[in-house]
Amino acid sequence: MNKTITGFSKLSKSEKIDWLVDTYFKNTASAKSLLKQYWNEDKKLQQLHDEFIENTISNYYLPLGVAPNFLINDTVYAIPMAIEESSVVAAASKAAKFWLDRGGFKTNVISTEKIGQVHFIFKGEPSKLKQFFKATKPKLIEASKSLTQNMEKRGGGILDIQLKDKTEDIDQYYQLHATFETLDAMGANFINSCLEQFAKTLKEEALDYDLFSLEEQNIQVIMSILSNYVPNCLVRAEVSCKVEELTENSNRSSQEFAEKFVQAVNIAEIEPYRAVTHNKGIMNGIDAVVLATGNDFRAVEAGVHAYASRNGQYSSLTHAKIEDGIFTFWMEIPLALGTVGGLTKLHPLVKWALELLGEPSAKELMQIVAVAGLAQNFAALRSLTTTGIQEGHMKMHLMNILNQFEATSEEKIILVKHFTTHTVTYSAAMEAINDLRK
Ligand code: MEV
Repeated sequence: MNKTITGFSKLSKSEKIDWLVDTYFKNTASAKSLLKQYWNEDKKLQQLHDEFIENTISNYYLPLGVAPNFLINDTVYAIPMAIEESSVVAAASKAAKFWLDRGGFKTNVISTEKIGQVHFIFKGEPSKLKQFFKATKPKLIEASKSLTQNMEKRGGGILDIQLKDKTEDIDQYYQLHATFETLDAMGANFINSCLEQFAKTLKEEALDYDLFSLEEQNIQVIMSILSNYVPNCLVRAEVSCKVEELTENSNRSSQEFAEKFVQAVNIAEIEPYRAVTHNKGIMNGIDAVVLATGNDFRAVEAGVHAYASRNGQYSSLTHAKIEDGIFTFWMEIPLALGTVGGLTKLHPLVKWALELLGEPSAKELMQIVAVAGLAQNFAALRSLTTTGIQEGHMKMHLMNILNQFEATSEEKIILVKHFTTHTVTYSAAMEAINDLRK
C-alpha cells in the first residue's frame, strides 16, 4: 500500500484522519475514535488549538500540576508545571515546603540581553568592510525604525550591532552580531525581523559603496537568525541556611548531609556523565514551568546546555558550598522568556498559569523558572545522597503501574496503603495486584 501522499495539508481534518487510519492502522474505527475522544467539546476552543500548527488531528494531553508554597524574595507562589514524569511536581512541592521554613529562595536577574546574527560572505579587503560597516551602522539602525519604534517606546530595542570577522574559521565569512533588549517579549519575531532588515540594508548599501570593487559590492547573505544562546540573559537563584537547620530527621547529622550534598554537586561540576543527568533533573523543573507558561522549552534547553559547556567541558549548572557553618546552594542560568506575545495571550491554560503567578513580567518569570530548576535539583540531590532516588520515584510511579494493570479505585486504595510499608518495584506491584485478585 502506498504510504506517501501529496497535498496532505490541503485535506480537511476528517479527510486527514481517514487517510491516516486507512493507511496505517488495523482497527480503523478505534484509531479514529481515540483521536476524537481527545477533541474538545467546545468547537471554538478546539479550533484555536487546531490552528496553532499545521495538520492538527487531535490534542495531546500532558498533566498540568501545581507546586505550592514557593517563597521567592518574600512573595509566595504556587507554580504551574506541565510534565508527564510522576515525581517532578511532588519533588518540587517538597523542596518548596522545605525552604519555606528556612527563608525561601532569593533570586535576581543579572542581565536581559538577547542576541541575533546576520551571517554573510564578503569577498574582498577586510579593512574596506570595516570602513563600510562603520559608515553603514547608523543606516542599519535607521532602516529598522518602523520595526523598533514600539519596542523603543517601552524602553527596549537594538542595543548594538558589531561586525565580526570569522575568516579564520571559514574563508570570507563575517557576521553582524546584534544585541537586543526585548523587555517582556521573548523577542524571537522582533529580533528576526530586525535581522532580516539589517541584511537587506547591508546588501543595498554595499551596492552603492563606491570604495568597494564590483565583487566586494556583492555581499552574499547566508542567513539572518536570532541565537538561542543567551549567556547575557542571566538569572540567579539561591537558597541558604545554617547547616544545623538542614536536617528534618534527627537520626541524620546535618553536617554529614550538607557535606555529602556539596560533594554530589562537586562531582557534577567535574564529571560530564553525572553533569548531564544532574542538569536533566534541573530541566525537569525548568521545562515544566516553561511549558505551562507558553514558552519555548526547546530554545531554553538549547541555550542552557550550551551555557553548561561554556568553559569547554559540560558541567553542573548548580553550585554549593559550606562556609562559616552556612550551607549555600545556587544556580545562574540563561533564560530567554516572554510573558507577552507567542502563546501567552492565546492559550487559555497559559493565560491561567500566568494569572496564577500574578501576571509576572519576563524578569519575574525568569526568577520563578530558575527557582523551579534549583528546587528540583535540591530535591533530587537530597534523595540521591540519602534514601536513593527510587524510593520516592517508584512511590510516585506506582499509580502508573496500577493503571497499566487497570486497577479499580478500590484496588488502588488497598495497594497504595500496602506500599506505604513495602518497597515499590514493578514486579512487587504486579505480585500484589495478582494476590489481591486471587
Ligand atoms: C530524573 O528525571 C532526574 C534525576 O536523575 C536527576 C538527578 O539524578 O539529579 C533524578
